[in-house]
Amino acid sequence: MYVKSARFVISNTDIEKCPNNNLPEYAFIGRSNVGKSSLINSICNKKALAKTSSKPGKTQLINHYLINNKWFLVDLPGYGYANASKTKKEIFQSFITTYFIKRKQLINAFLLIDIRHEPQKIDVNFMRWLGNNQIPFSIIFTKSDKLKTHTLNEKLNNYKQIMIHEVWESLPPIFVTSSLKNKGGDDILNYIDNLNSELS
Ligand code: GTP
Ligand code: MG
Repeated sequence: MYVKSARFVISNTDIEKCPNNNLPEYAFIGRSNVGKSSLINSICNKKALAKTSSKPGKTQLINHYLINNKWFLVDLPGYGYANASKTKKEIFQSFITTYFIKRKQLINAFLLIDIRHEPQKIDVNFMRWLGNNQIPFSIIFTKSDKLKTHTLNEKLNNYKQIMIHEVWESLPPIFVTSSLKNKGGDDILNYIDNLNSELS
């Protein structure tokens, strides 16, 4: 699939106010600073569509981006942002949870994970939570440009082993990306295209 058009539609904290035209949507979730907003820009080939920052905690709302007038990419605030106040964490937690549980248009969640890190409890717990709530998800490893190929493969294998050992017998679809080098976006777009065509 080719992104012909990508435009910002609306931001909010209230899922009742999200677009209600029943177009399928795909959400990016993961720790703060993992590269959710950057990957949306890379996939859409637009540098400043979603706001990014080197400091964690940039995205604070549910943001809908309409792609090819047919489906939405949804950028969400990150979790696990150590410096956020307790109240802010609770607010994020509550509307993110509500979004995932109530949003009927959500076809698949993409859980983004920084390829450099060992599996983190917060991510594994979130995967379990998605599983328990029967929300389909895939994993996207980000920032692959930061590792040499052999280290990257080692990290990937290690992560998969731990997932199989600790979480599930079978792994969800896995994508490896670099927004800096614009890598991996095509595979994600093709995956979304296939899911969209199964709906029609
Ligand atoms: P929050 O909105 O705070 O949850 O963060 P986010 O997950 O949206 O992260 P964002 O896209 O704002 O990126 C965080 C930082 O990581 C920025 O400094 C980006 O430039 C950097 N970054 C994102 N993706 C990549 C990548 O693929 N490679 C490299 N080297 N840096 C990246
Ligand atoms: Mg962001």
